[in-house]
Amino acid sequence: MSSNSTIRSICCIGAGYVGGPTMAVIADRCPDVKVTVVDINQDRIAAWNHPDLSKLPVYEPGLDAVVERARGRNLFFSTAVEETIASADMVFISVNTPTKTRGLGAGQASDLRWVEACARTVAKEATGHTIVVEKSTLPVRTAEAVKAILGSVDSSSEQKTFSVLSNPEFLAEGTAIRDLANPDRVLIGGENAEAIDALAEIYQQWVPEEKILRTNLWSSELSKLTANAFLAQRISSINSVAALCEATGADVREVAKAIGTDSRIGPKFLNAGPGFGGSCFQKDILNLVYLCRHFGLPDVADYWESVVLLNTWQQHRIARLVVQKLFGTVTGKRLAILGFAFKADTNDTREAPAIRICKDLLEEGAQLAIHDPKVDPEQISRDLNLIASQAPEEDAGPTRGALSGEATWWPSPDVASAIRGADAVLILTEWQQYRELDWTTLAPLMRKPAWVFDARGVVDPKQVESGGLNVWRVGEGDA
Ligand code: NAD
Ligand code: UDX
Repeated sequence: MSSNSTIRSICCIGAGYVGGPTMAVIADRCPDVKVTVVDINQDRIAAWNHPDLSKLPVYEPGLDAVVERARGRNLFFSTAVEETIASADMVFISVNTPTKTRGLGAGQASDLRWVEACARTVAKEATGHTIVVEKSTLPVRTAEAVKAILGSVDSSSEQKTFSVLSNPEFLAEGTAIRDLANPDRVLIGGENAEAIDALAEIYQQWVPEEKILRTNLWSSELSKLTANAFLAQRISSINSVAALCEATGADVREVAKAIGTDSRIGPKFLNAGPGFGGSCFQKDILNLVYLCRHFGLPDVADYWESVVLLNTWQQHRIARLVVQKLFGTVTGKRLAILGFAFKADTNDTREAPAIRICKDLLEEGAQLAIHDPKVDPEQISRDLNLIASQAPEEDAGPTRGALSGEATWWPSPDVASAIRGADAVLILTEWQQYRELDWTTLAPLMRKPAWVFDARGVVDPKQVESGGLNVWRVGEGDA
């Protein structure tokens, strides 16, 4: 940090998937700035402070090394929300903004209660001049509300002033450290040039100046929602084409390559799959849909809503297809689910396609052996609203007492035990280890006729077929 820097002390409210990694990287790159991440969730803070770095609450490749370098030096995790705000020059708000589940805008609008609570606490506890940075993804014009709350503080007895900035985060889970270390751009929206410069100065410690974009507040807030909507739209587009490929004998990988080499389209985000998951895409598009309706643009709202509808359809389509291929019934059948996280290299299951697909199959009475290298089985129980059963005896195989039709699931410690005795394998997350499975040793463990449903396009179909198994790969039609 240069010596004339205005920012000496940062407080980040929210020690989640964004607050934790983002602040760890800022602290790592700006050793002269004290960075304290605060949260009301004591367990989460305890996990961030855990001496064993494998116990950090967020799994991200490379995060442990960054935390190890900075923690205790200029990076701190604490539940002392008020005191930390009081001593900070800059406060990031990085709390959750999920879709509202009740009341006005339920199912679409963002629930801003946590953001508002933060603004009120900052208004009360801050001292001197404080730059408040919206790091959470927020509906356009939220800064207006934040400013109104900060402006309502009675500052007659004490000198309190605020500047509000929008600085949305574009990291993707699984590559968060790489994305933070080498971002495509950093976006700073605001009205006060000095405040914008103060935040830019932090990023300039490692991000080239030309990648730091300055905009007005509303453009910044809206750009975040728009970026996610465009990315998600590509996934729904390629998934819609995948279904057409399956019907016509085309191969979606070939089509994706053919269109992706057009430099105007580009090759990224064209992997067909079980639909997008994660805490952001669906939530942010629904928020955009809500805003469009709010601003009297129902046709624009319908356009973006179709991206989410197609995504949900794709997930149900995969579950339906599994049932159809397995002679129209999966009741009592053992199915191995490989991958529960919403994508590889994360332990996050929020909106994971596996949730909807597994729920559909459980509804049909299936018995699911679920394997994921990083997801905690208790999280799976919560996501499926069903506590885990004991894994059946190793050799229970096809003679399982399944005709009762009771749906069950159990966590499998390894792939082979998930697959043993199964009628089908579903690959729902593209973990590297699933790309490397040896199907010649796995195939004999299954009950024949058996299927591999590869929703991520990671297996070599010839190798699977050589083991005597049937294969379905997303977006691959019979040529
Ligand atoms: P998260 O749920 O993992 O973490 C949010 C944390 O905020 C929780 O630990 C919660 O206890 C804490 N919190 C809530 N209210 C608080 C309060 N008043 N005081 C102190 N702590 C409080 O959420 P996340 O995934 O880190 O997302 C945070 C924001 O960033 C969201 O708006 C999200 O849309 C956005 N975002 C997320 C990602 C992502 O990949 N997860 C990427 C970009 C942007
Ligand atoms: C996304 C945005 O990429 C990121 O910029 C934003 O800050 C937060 O939301 P994230 O949800 O963490 O990040 O992961 P991302 O890599 O975008 O994947 C989202 C979902 O789309 C995953 O379920 C992934 O498997 C799926 N996906 C992605 C595809 O199905 N096909 C693709 O080609 C790319």
